[in-house]
Amino acid sequence: MDRSGLMDSYVSNELRSAIRAALLKGGAEVIEEEERFVVESLLDLVAEGGSRLEEVFARLESGESPYTVFGRYQIPQTQYWIDVPLGVMPPGCDTANTIAVIRHVVRGRNPEAIADVGCGTGVLGLAALIAARQARCVFLDVDAAACDAARSNALRLGLADRCSVICQDARQSLAALKLDLVVANLPFVPSGDIPNLGARFRDFAPRLAVDGGHDGLAVFHWLGDMLHAALHTSGSMILQFGRGQREAVVASLGPRWFECNEDNLGYPNVVVVRRVK
Ligand SMILES: C[S@@+](CC[C@H](N)C(=O)[O-])C[C@H]1O[C@@H](n2cnc3c(N)ncnc32)[C@H](O)[C@@H]1O
Repeated sequence: MDRSGLMDSYVSNELRSAIRAALLKGGAEVIEEEERFVVESLLDLVAEGGSRLEEVFARLESGESPYTVFGRYQIPQTQYWIDVPLGVMPPGCDTANTIAVIRHVVRGRNPEAIADVGCGTGVLGLAALIAARQARCVFLDVDAAACDAARSNALRLGLADRCSVICQDARQSLAALKLDLVVANLPFVPSGDIPNLGARFRDFAPRLAVDGGHDGLAVFHWLGDMLHAALHTSGSMILQFGRGQREAVVASLGPRWFECNEDNLGYPNVVVVRRVK
């Protein structure tokens, strides 16, 4: 019997309801995905003696991401787990979609030089490296805790020899790079909307990971110009953003970029763009 079969037979409805209630109280977005993750992680916790159970429920109810509470995240469609330390933006409900697009683009284009801009835990760049077996990836983040997390996750996955980490504002380092593919999930929430976000983003996420300036698009305004020089003419950029921002994000990059439907997967929060020659 596989693990999910085991879960179904051992996890009582009562426990499932308690988990669901805790996640809902904490403002979980995609309840099924997170519920499954919490059930699996709780089973592991119980097997280890269960001493943290109360703490875990309290943290979930307060709105912390389950990936932070348990300190780990499984890169979708792989057997690889990364660490998700406190103080670093955890992967979220859209990460799986972005990774599906990354995988699709990597298969079609076979990039050699990749950058993960605003890497956080490094989840996107690491997913790209798992798919692109010959590629190298530069992880960039302005936050030292994020850089440490990306570095140690690369080591953990045995990918460190294909990775480098640059810990500074990406505006200072991008111009020196020559890239085939950029993956990025940068802050996109308008500053004025932050007080209305759920606790997960308002209280627990680092402000630098969330705050996209007055229109939420501050990063995209400079990203287009900076990357036009850094990306090879045949290169692609895969960007994650918030609901309803697609057109504004592409427009913010400027006229030297166009949206291409090369992934054809139709996810609302991810776009693939390419350079106008
Ligand atoms: C929304 S988090 C995403 C983390 C990760 N890419 C993911 O998808 O889980 C955005 C990240 O961008 C970083 N960041 C924000 N502005 C930046 C800048 N100007 N240069 C480099 N990194 C930046 C933040 O520190 C944060 O780690």
